Order: sequence, then C-alpha cells, then structure tokens
Amino acid sequence: MAEWVSLCALEELPDGQREVFGVSGRWIAVFNVSGKVYAIEDLCTHDGNVLAFDRADRPSQLRGFEIECPRHGGRFDIRNGKATRSPAEIDVPWFQVRIQNGQIEILV
Ligand code: FES
Repeated sequence: MAEWVSLCALEELPDGQREVFGVSGRWIAVFNVSGKVYAIEDLCTHDGNVLAFDRADRPSQLRGFEIECPRHGGRFDIRNGKATRSPAEIDVPWFQVRIQNGQIEILV
C-alpha cells in the first residue's frame, strides 16, 4: 500500500535547488522549480545513469522542466516522468509530492 514519506523541510530545498534521497531502496531526485516541488526516480531508463547530478556531482542541465541525462543527453519531464528526447524512450517513474506541515512528502 502506498504511503507518504517525509524527505526534508521545504525550506531546506529552496527554489532552483535539487536533492537526491534514498527511499525504500530507490534514489529519488527532488526539484524545486519556482516554488513547486517535483520528484522522479534518479535513474535514467536508457542505460541506468543517475539524472540529477553528473559524476563530478555537478547539477545536470535542467531546461525548463526537462532534466537532461549527463551521459547520453536523453531528457525527461520532471513533472510526469515522460521521456522527451532520444535516446531515452521509456518514461522514468515519478512521484506525487505534497507539502505537509512544511515538510516535503512523496507518495511511495
Ligand atoms: S544513460 Fe541516460 S541517456 Fe543514456
């Protein structure tokens, strides 16, 4: 059964920031874009690279709502997980987000 899991305080993830959290054996990338928070699995469906940061721990390119995989350039919409640019063809899992008592929570 799905449950809401608290990740951090909203104030710890200001506008324009991202963070990766380990939840139930998965890595979840969480983004604050203009005060709204989005969450996707931090695992590219093309060949298993992480999405939110590159190997040097620099933030990957976020173009509007599209995160670009630092490995081959596939893109995903962080609002719904849709694969939007080749070589990514399969959508990435995304998670419902809510703010509860100032905490960012996702439904897993
Ligand atoms: S591993 Fe992400 S586009 Fe290839």
